[in-house]
Amino acid sequence: MTSIHRVPNSAGIGLRLAHLAEMVATRPSIGWLEIHPENFLANPHAHELLTELAAYVPISVHTVGISIGSASGIDRLHLKRIRSLVDEIDPILVSGHLAWSTYGKEYLNDLLPLPYNPESLRLVAAQVHEVQDSLGRPYLVENPASYVGFSSSTMKETEFLSELVRRTGCQLLCDVSNIVVSAHNMDSDANDYINEFPASAIGEIHLGGFTPEEDPAIPGAELWIDTHAAAIAARSWDLYAYATRRFGAKPTLIEWDNAIPSLTTLLAEAAHADKIAQAITLEMRYADVG
Ligand SMILES: [Fe+2]
Repeated sequence: MTSIHRVPNSAGIGLRLAHLAEMVATRPSIGWLEIHPENFLANPHAHELLTELAAYVPISVHTVGISIGSASGIDRLHLKRIRSLVDEIDPILVSGHLAWSTYGKEYLNDLLPLPYNPESLRLVAAQVHEVQDSLGRPYLVENPASYVGFSSSTMKETEFLSELVRRTGCQLLCDVSNIVVSAHNMDSDANDYINEFPASAIGEIHLGGFTPEEDPAIPGAELWIDTHAAAIAARSWDLYAYATRRFGAKPTLIEWDNAIPSLTTLLAEAAHADKIAQAITLEMRYADVG
């Protein structure tokens, strides 16, 4: 199944309920919008406005509740609800995190990490297959922001994602800001991560703000938290430029979920992402010619 809309290689913004009415009323120029389906499933008015928007602007669906990393299986009832919304609005992309948020019937309002080893890879691959079979389209799996490592991990995150792509044919959502946050917290190199990332599988990029907090485990040190509550940091813009040089321009989303600013601010962040990607695309084209 393919959307009536083409996937644009330009920037979009995360559509939050606070801006929904303004978006419908003013129809600002934007490449695409990404929604969290969980905000619309039990809200008939929001659902109706979303249907109106979907007729003229490409929509991407970014689910936070399928829980593909859960050892007790994915939430099938939730997947069924997502499928009916996907069938209705025909999104350009459907994605979710490499994480877990449910265990049995317990729903945890967080995206929790998993170890990277052959056993967890088998589990996640089977669950990605199940999601893709149900939705009838590729699923994009997003690299998480990391705060801890597991002694049972035997693979790097980039190796795990590469193997997941090979086994399932899924695509990847490369969250550049998550890479910045993880590199700081785990004392690793963000550029190396980009170099190792399976470039050909990338269908989307995310950029979001993070918040430095005092690290409770190391006095005097900072832990960077992926809050989506701030403007995109200079370090993330720099890594975005580096990633665009390596991957080429990709559909790029501005994520801002807490302390939400005006729609104008979000559109300006998207315009800035477009400016960076366009400048690099031009630079690469001239380099090819020269
Ligand atoms: Fe993200």
